Amino acid sequence: MRAAVHTSFGPPDVVQVVERPIPPVRRGDVLIKVHATTVTSAECAMRRGEPWWGRVILGLRRPRAHLRTLGLEVSGTVEEVGADVTAFSPGDEVFGFTGFAVGAHADYVRLPATGSLAPKPSSSTFVEAAAAVDGATTALFFLRDKAKLRPDQHVLINGASGSIGTYAVQLAKHLGATVTAVCGPSNVDLVRSLGADHVIDYTTHDFTADVGTYDIVFDTVTKSSFRDARRSLRTGGKYLPTTGLTNNLWALWTLLRGGKRVLVGMSVDKRAALPLISSLLESGELRVVVDRTYPLADIASAHRYVDAGHKRGNVVVTV
Ligand SMILES: NC(=O)c1ccc[n+]([C@@H]2O[C@H](COP(=O)([O-])OP(=O)(O)OC[C@H]3O[C@@H](n4cnc5c(N)ncnc54)[C@H](OP(=O)(O)O)[C@@H]3O)[C@@H](O)[C@H]2O)c1
Repeated sequence: MRAAVHTSFGPPDVVQVVERPIPPVRRGDVLIKVHATTVTSAECAMRRGEPWWGRVILGLRRPRAHLRTLGLEVSGTVEEVGADVTAFSPGDEVFGFTGFAVGAHADYVRLPATGSLAPKPSSSTFVEAAAAVDGATTALFFLRDKAKLRPDQHVLINGASGSIGTYAVQLAKHLGATVTAVCGPSNVDLVRSLGADHVIDYTTHDFTADVGTYDIVFDTVTKSSFRDARRSLRTGGKYLPTTGLTNNLWALWTLLRGGKRVLVGMSVDKRAALPLISSLLESGELRVVVDRTYPLADIASAHRYVDAGHKRGNVVVTV
C-alpha cells in the first residue's frame, strides 16, 4: 500500500509517499480502506518535531518508527475485522480518530474496534466525515466537558475560522450560548454564517481589551495569553487554551488560588462524542468547512498549506 512517511523532522518536503506493507489485523482490530483523511496543524507540528518538549514522545533526534506515518482523522470502508470484532463488518462505512497510533495517511489503517470509531454519518461525504472528527470532538470536549458551557453564558472563540474554531462556534450555539467569534478580515462572513452573534476582526480589535465581558474565552489557536485575556473574563470566568506548557502551569496555579481559572486538557478518546457529532451532521445542525482537498500523492503540498497557518476549517487528503 502507499503511505506518506517522514523519517526526519523538518519542512513539508520530508514527507514522501512510499510503499509499505498493509498492517496485519489482530483479534480486536478493524482494517479500514482509507477514502479520506486530513492534515491538521497538530500533525504539522509533529512533522516539525515541535514543541521541543514534545520530542520526549515524538522521538529525540528523529521520529519514532510508529509515528512516521501521520494521519489522525479517517473516513473509509471496513476491509477486514479481527476474530473478536462484532461491532463492525467488512463493507461498513466508518469515520474515526487514530490518536497516538496515527497512520491514516495511507491506503489502509488499522484501528482497535473499541477505539474512536463510529459509523459514518449517512448524509456526509467521505471528505466531510474525515474532517468532522478531531476539530468537532475537541471543541465539544473543551466547551461542554471542561468549561460546562451553559445557555446563559457568553463565550468568546478565538481562531473561529480554524478547524476547532468553526465547530466551536456551531457547538456553542447548539449549547445555547451567546458567541463572539474572533477571526481575520477574510473570514468574517464565514464565521457569521456559522451562527456567531458577534464577530471581532483581530486585525482591528484586541478582544483582551473587552474588560469583564466573557464567561469563557476559548482560544482554539492559543494566540492570546491568560495574562492578557483574564481581564476580559467576568468574575469566575474560564480561559481555555488548546496548547502550551505555560498554560499547564497557569492551570495548576489557578486551581490552587481559585478565581478565574485556566482549564487545559487533551481530547484523545473520541468514541463517546462521535455519535453526537454524527447526529448533528445528519440533522444539518453542524456544517463541515472544507478549505482544500489534495490527493495523497501531493500530501506535502497539504502540509505546506497548513503550515502557513491560515487554513479555513479543514484540509482534506483523498486517498
Ligand atoms: N488539546 C487538544 O486536545 C487539541 C486537539 C486538537 C488540536 N489541538 C491544537 O489546537 C490548535 C488549533 O488547531 P486547529 O486545527 O483548529 O487550527 P487551524 O485550523 O490550523 O487554525 C487556522 C486558523 O487560525 C486563524 N488564526 C491565525 N492567527 C490568528 C490570530 N492571531 N487570531 C485569531 N485567529 C488566527 C486563521 O485565520 P486567519 O487566516 O484569518 O488568520 C485560520 O483560519 C493546534 O495548536 C493544535 O495542536 C489541541
